[in-house]
Amino acid sequence: MQVSGISVETVALLLGSVAVLRVVQGYLDYRRVLASIKYLPGHRTVVSSATVFGNLFPPIPILSLGHDHFWRLKHSSFAQRGLDVVSAVSWWPSAAAVLWIADASIVKEIMWSRGRFPKPLHQYKILTFFGENIVVSEADEWKRYRKIVAPAFSDKNNRLVWEATTKIMLDLFDDVWAGKNEITIEHGVDLTLPIALFVIGAAGFGRDISWKEDDIIPPGASKYLLEMIHARKAADKAEERHDLFSSLLAANEDEGLSKDERKLSDSELIGNIFIFLVAGHETTAHSLCFALAMLALYPEEQENLYQHIKSVLPDGRIPTYDDMPLLTHSLAVFNESLRMFAPVTNVPKSSAEDATFTTTDVNGEKQTITVPQGMILSLDVVGLHYNPKYWEDPETFKPSRFLGDWNKDAFLPFSGGYRGCVGRKFSETEGTAVLTYFVSRFKIEIKEEPQFAHETFEQRKERVLGARSAITLAPTRTPLVFKRRV
Ligand code: HEM
Repeated sequence: MQVSGISVETVALLLGSVAVLRVVQGYLDYRRVLASIKYLPGHRTVVSSATVFGNLFPPIPILSLGHDHFWRLKHSSFAQRGLDVVSAVSWWPSAAAVLWIADASIVKEIMWSRGRFPKPLHQYKILTFFGENIVVSEADEWKRYRKIVAPAFSDKNNRLVWEATTKIMLDLFDDVWAGKNEITIEHGVDLTLPIALFVIGAAGFGRDISWKEDDIIPPGASKYLLEMIHARKAADKAEERHDLFSSLLAANEDEGLSKDERKLSDSELIGNIFIFLVAGHETTAHSLCFALAMLALYPEEQENLYQHIKSVLPDGRIPTYDDMPLLTHSLAVFNESLRMFAPVTNVPKSSAEDATFTTTDVNGEKQTITVPQGMILSLDVVGLHYNPKYWEDPETFKPSRFLGDWNKDAFLPFSGGYRGCVGRKFSETEGTAVLTYFVSRFKIEIKEEPQFAHETFEQRKERVLGARSAITLAPTRTPLVFKRRV
């Protein structure tokens, strides 16, 4: 058959040749990438797991690692290869390699060499939806944001976090739950998400909140924040406040400067405020939900915590921010749940230059890792947190490991170095207060449900600790019961 002088066979031959050429080219590129990392062992898949599209696939051998792979694989990728640095090499959309790192000293070197290992900003584009911000910036722009933002996370602000949390928790216990001795919550986040939102509302934006008035959170927490911003802009400016918003607003409202000369433009103000919500809300709320689930699953750990709180506060008084350094067991429980359920499962960096790292393999032999310029490096937070080199029995919930001497470099829930979380103390303060209040007033249990009456402890654990990693690691369903202590 002829079409305009070219036979169908010829067209088919041409298309076939192009396809073969593409495959050959792809294969050559793939070999080139492998050679560039000196054939470092690791995962080999067709589809890249570092792309949004790649993450749509379930885990299928050879094809894709699937979404959630950092969470699902924990330390196994490293254990299987006897090395704490592995590669993930893929063919599509183009041949590329990512290095996954669960070696604490390499992680530390990367985090403290900001110029050599900057953030791959293209991976963060989605977070600029509301405006430029501190998380999605590098070099001078980042320095400018950090200078404006960091002083807001002061000790005075942490005190505010404690006071706001106290009010929110006591309102919950004595008002919302008044007269109830047993409260069932179908999913722990139904409780921890509003708590974390109210705390950031109060300590972030100076907005006094009560459960009653916020009974109904508008759909989409972002709308709620926008409303808070408008309310604050209209409020009395003379009053000295220590919430985060005040510092940002001051940088935005620099009197006497033209719009272009201000430290923070309007869109940067909004962008940074939203990033506080994105970075600080779900992360803290999900961690608290996992912590409550662990305390419910391990009543002996819950009892240890209760006894410790009682020893710090024997008269049962309401603790203040000054008591926080003594409430070491509460922070230890929060830390242990951050270790086991790190909300941010991987921190991406890129290599601005050719580099080498040294690590030690399972046989104690030194190995050199070659890193070509432009390579993406994944600080594998979950891999590091489940690395038995740093954590004894990493699968076991053992808050006491955070009471003695522990390896600070192997604990990465807040990232670290120059780009470490600026809200870390904010979150630790909130976490310590929330856990202290819950455990001092209530016994926390997993809700008994007839359909699960015959499950084993391991099955129950797997069910209530089920998690999926979207922007942050989120518990899927954690039904809890709170029984008032008498
Ligand atoms: C359990 C709670 C939290 C966790 C696990 C967490 C985790 C992290 C991580 C891993 C990073 C580094 C991200 C990256 O490299 O891309 C980060 C940065 C950041 N976090 Fe948090 N965070 C928490 C709470 C908060 C809170 C409460 C706030 C604010 C109210 C906050 C504000 C920020 C900001 C502004 C940055 C960017 C810092 C910079 O680039 O200089 N975080 N956080």
